[in-house]
Amino acid sequence: MINTVGVIGLGTMGAGIVEVFAKAGLSVIAVDGSAELAERGKGFLEKSLGRAVSKGKLDEAARDEIVGRVSFGDDLAAMKDADLVIEAVPERLEIKESIFTTLDGIVREDCVLATNTSSLSITEIARATKVPSRVIGMHFFNPAPVQPLVEVIRSVMSDETLVEQVRELAERLGKKPVVVGDRAGFVANALLVSYLARSIRAYESGLASRSDIDAAMAAGVGLPMGPLTLCDLVGLDVIHEVCGVLYNATGDPSVASPSILRQLVTAGRLGRKSGHGFYTYDGVGSGTVVDDAATTAPAKPLEGKVGLVGEGDLVDALGSELSDAGVEVVRVVSADDAASVKDVAVTLAVDAVELDGDCCGGGCCGGDDASHGDVESGLEIGAKPVLRAVRDAIGDAGVIAALGEGSVETASTGDPTIDATVVPVVLHEKQRAGQVLEIGRSVAISDEAVETVRSLAVAAGWTPVVGKDRAGLVVDALLYPHLNDAAKMLDSGYATVEDIETAMKAGCGYPQGLFELLDEAGPDDVHGVLSEMHFETGEQHLVPSPLLTEHILADRTFRG
Ligand code: CAA
Repeated sequence: MINTVGVIGLGTMGAGIVEVFAKAGLSVIAVDGSAELAERGKGFLEKSLGRAVSKGKLDEAARDEIVGRVSFGDDLAAMKDADLVIEAVPERLEIKESIFTTLDGIVREDCVLATNTSSLSITEIARATKVPSRVIGMHFFNPAPVQPLVEVIRSVMSDETLVEQVRELAERLGKKPVVVGDRAGFVANALLVSYLARSIRAYESGLASRSDIDAAMAAGVGLPMGPLTLCDLVGLDVIHEVCGVLYNATGDPSVASPSILRQLVTAGRLGRKSGHGFYTYDGVGSGTVVDDAATTAPAKPLEGKVGLVGEGDLVDALGSELSDAGVEVVRVVSADDAASVKDVAVTLAVDAVELDGDCCGGGCCGGDDASHGDVESGLEIGAKPVLRAVRDAIGDAGVIAALGEGSVETASTGDPTIDATVVPVVLHEKQRAGQVLEIGRSVAISDEAVETVRSLAVAAGWTPVVGKDRAGLVVDALLYPHLNDAAKMLDSGYATVEDIETAMKAGCGYPQGLFELLDEAGPDDVHGVLSEMHFETGEQHLVPSPLLTEHILADRTFRG
């Protein structure tokens, strides 16, 4: 039975792990490299427990009892009494190897040596010790007191009884253990950090602004925080190190540490812990963002009415939503009433093709119903009689937001004068953090038109996310490769659907697992967007997993 644990390294993760053990009633020997670092670790623990006391979740006596279970110091010799020692020192193999080699001469023979490494090889760390069978990975997630996941990682040399002992210990701590083999990044980081690296690269390439990338995933998908905010929480140095490990293991350029990440780490901008990362914070260790040069100016208030073109339940619902938000709406259902939108600030056109009942008013196909099925929403928008009438009424400078597939190509009229003010938009489902209106930006569209649609979004209570007009815009372009990675991991036999769902939900606070999201989006839609993205970029990691194809052909979801 494990009752006394040692924790080495009292930074963000180490201090959090100390808190988890002490709260669960275990005695903790907490050690860092110097008396100052040990004192800092004690400060982290007291601050975290203090927050719980001030929220009324812990009383002062309980706090004192928890702190009383921990002894802080700077001497590894204190580990002689431990049943399990876990290290949470920086992600460098040589540091971890040296600590474990030293521990070999200090701890009892039956002591378990655990590492909280985010991605380094447990097998390599184990090899540096006298008894490799007692080395196990025990990987917590940030913030350790909050996230329930603990990845228990076995090497091929691990003693299975000890693996089971560590799994049971994680359960005693109130955590959700997932036992996996020793692969770079294990389950959660292999998936999460690949997604974070791609998000950083998307930001670097100007796909969208910093805050729009974050809003896309928080308000667009429902993740607890956007990827750049999360990088700042975890620490850019940690993300950089994990990227290096993933890249070395896979050779996949999409997981290599992005240039901007390397620059920030070199500059000492490590995220919240240094007060500056992708965002600027109001102090070291703070999560409160302050404005800086990269802060996007807020949308200007919408001045004027909104035209709403289309009919059906969706259009009615949008009309009510806009009215409830205090926006004055002018409805247009046929070419005859198009003149009423003459003076509106912006016109929202829903499913433009459907409006006239065929794709082209009979012009391209002679009204042959069979060929209409191939036409995508928004195609030939300018050729539609209603929209042409709307265009005539509002003039060439009037802005039309075309709600549909979200691609300039599909919203294109073929007339550059009109295209400059036809903005493709996609409205996503409402999430806890808001509802995203994605706005496609391209060389064909004027900045003023994009700004007007941003104003419309804010007036309607939606969160605008402006992205370059590429396959998947921002939300799907970041989400779908993440889902594809999960399918590839499943296909590789490394983890089950359940392991992967647990890892992302319990480790990263995802409200839905990746396969739940995949089934919801539909494997065929995910496959389609990935294929388009691959076609646009040629990037190998975007090739859809064969398992996606299999599920499409068999018409099967992933979660049964
Ligand atoms: N330490 C202790 N507790 C903390 C905390 C911290 N650093 N930050 C937040 N909390 C607690 C709060 O006190 C609060 O507790 P109560 O519910 O008891 O009041 C709770 O967490 C929720 O916090 P907030 O209300 O302040 O904020 P929130 O609801 O937005 O949640 C969050 C914050 C828990 C961080 C959430 O945004 C989240 O889950 N984000 C995703 C984090 C994630 O992905 N972590 C994994 C990173 S990868 C990793 O760690 C592995 C690696 O090896 C790199």
